[in-house]
Amino acid sequence: MNVIKVKNYDEMSEKATELIVNRINTLENPVLGLATGSTPEGLYQRTIKKFEQKEVSFKNVTTFNLDEYVGLDKDDSNSYYYFMNEKLFRHVDIAMDRVHVPNGVAQDLEKECMEHERAIEQAGGIDVQVLGIGGNGHIGFNEPGTSFSSRTHVVDLDESTIQANARFFNSIDDVPTQAVSMGIETIMNSKEILLLVSGEAKADAMAKLLNGEVSEDFPASILKQHENVTVIVDEAALTVAESK
Ligand code: F6R
Repeated sequence: MNVIKVKNYDEMSEKATELIVNRINTLENPVLGLATGSTPEGLYQRTIKKFEQKEVSFKNVTTFNLDEYVGLDKDDSNSYYYFMNEKLFRHVDIAMDRVHVPNGVAQDLEKECMEHERAIEQAGGIDVQVLGIGGNGHIGFNEPGTSFSSRTHVVDLDESTIQANARFFNSIDDVPTQAVSMGIETIMNSKEILLLVSGEAKADAMAKLLNGEVSEDFPASILKQHENVTVIVDEAALTVAESK
């Protein structure tokens, strides 16, 4: 893993934007894997600015999101489709038929998972996958214990994940308990991975990632076996790793 240390969230977002804009501008038909959550928001904001300044276009870009809550419709303000549309898609020139967010209200969720995999394959695979990390080491919604050979699947969210995500909902009882998520193998098949890590809340996870073993108990640890991973991490997220 190529670890880039930065001062803070803004610098992390800035560096991530440089990398993503560069890939979009150099690849012929860029295929991006995208994440939701607080971590990539700064990346998306800055990417929109670059679009407005005509430094990047999404005309030839295809996207695949990592995950979606089961039971939330596209129009639900807590769905990840809604998040992506608000934070990125509706501000840029992307063709919406090239946008793929798993459908969390599909009648047949197994089929929906297979469809996500098939569409990724048909697009030629993911060129760059953007990831955040959960405090428990999850990537996508692959919670500790998930098989490293998993493909897009329906997952039960950990209690800690439900609690961490409750900040976006009116009450913790409204947080879905399941999601559709790309599997770990799906993520590992990406040609390049960009992991963004910011803030003290991620410091323990970051220390485990840097100093721990590769184990299904800590899903992000598998990233050490991928040959093209860039981690952009800020000082706050490094406090535990660097005190060891
Ligand atoms: C989001 C996702 C999750 C988040 C992780 C960190 O699509 O798959 O793995 O990246 O939970 O979330 P934040 O960035 O909100 O701390």
